Amino acid sequence: MKVNDKLFKTVWLEDDVVKMINQPILPDRFEIRECKNHAETAEAIKTMIVRGAGAIGATAGYGMAQAFIQGEDIEKAAELIKNTRPTAQNLFYAVNKVLKAKDKEEAVKIAEEIAEEDSEASKKIGEYGETLIKDNDKILTHCNAGWLAFVDWGTALSPIYSAKRKGKNIFVFVDETRPRLQGARLTAWELGNEDVPHAIIADNAAGHYMKNGDVNLVITGADRIAANGDTANKIGTYEKAVLAKENNIPFYIAAPTSTIDISCPSGENIPIEERDEKEVLEVRGVKLSPEKSHAKNPAFDVTPARYITGIITEKGVIKPNKEDIKKIINP
Ligand code: MRU
Repeated sequence: MKVNDKLFKTVWLEDDVVKMINQPILPDRFEIRECKNHAETAEAIKTMIVRGAGAIGATAGYGMAQAFIQGEDIEKAAELIKNTRPTAQNLFYAVNKVLKAKDKEEAVKIAEEIAEEDSEASKKIGEYGETLIKDNDKILTHCNAGWLAFVDWGTALSPIYSAKRKGKNIFVFVDETRPRLQGARLTAWELGNEDVPHAIIADNAAGHYMKNGDVNLVITGADRIAANGDTANKIGTYEKAVLAKENNIPFYIAAPTSTIDISCPSGENIPIEERDEKEVLEVRGVKLSPEKSHAKNPAFDVTPARYITGIITEKGVIKPNKEDIKKIINP
């Protein structure tokens, strides 16, 4: 994606430094964060300087490559990186892949392949997903499954970018996505950069627009897809899926096959990250609630497969069931 006329990826490796777009300060400022070793890279994942399943995966791969280059204890480095965020499958996929490297050269090669695979898959998802978008469609998305959540292109937003480039007239409803506002801050910023017409809506406004016939299609990303098609995504996705079904609106998940966890039989087995209550009690450092109030802050929820119309992958659009998922993983 172009930012101020310069091409950027969300995360990349330069010598032994992992560089990434600093996401919490967007859209106010555009800055690159540099992580000099795997511990700093792990911390950047944990504190969400970099976030989104694919971007987390690529960053984790690069963090592992750093540990190889700098002669660290590889098993310990893998443990540290795996313990940053529990839900996104791509993180475990990447760490386990780089763990198999024999030496630093191979580790860097595997990490680069993971990042390349992520951006290629995102592009393909855009091509398959674009065929589901009709001229004049109004599409609702939740959180940020765009360019910033992957190395490039994104998943839920990739079909939207492809449709726009093909000249389709589209409009996007952007859920603000409390508590961290990835929709209002990041998705809106990306869509603005791509000149895609959009409006940010409060999270609780989606049902209103769906019921009034203003939304034709819902596309979201995924952090982990179980073997039966149940899907974990940003908190609030489940209720959007239920509302979509109630209002006969197709609800698609867009995700690379690296987000599928075939060892996880159903959504009940997906670990859900619980984050700091401050994210709910405050907005960007400003306290909203009474001093004595506490909050609960699950970062993800699980949408049962029965609410999902299809999963847009880099290998095509599949049904969210065991058979189709098995076939796409082991063709
Ligand atoms: O907590 P985050 O920001 O890392 O959450 C991940 C997400 O951005 C969403 O759940 C997204 O829809 C899927 S990941 C591309």
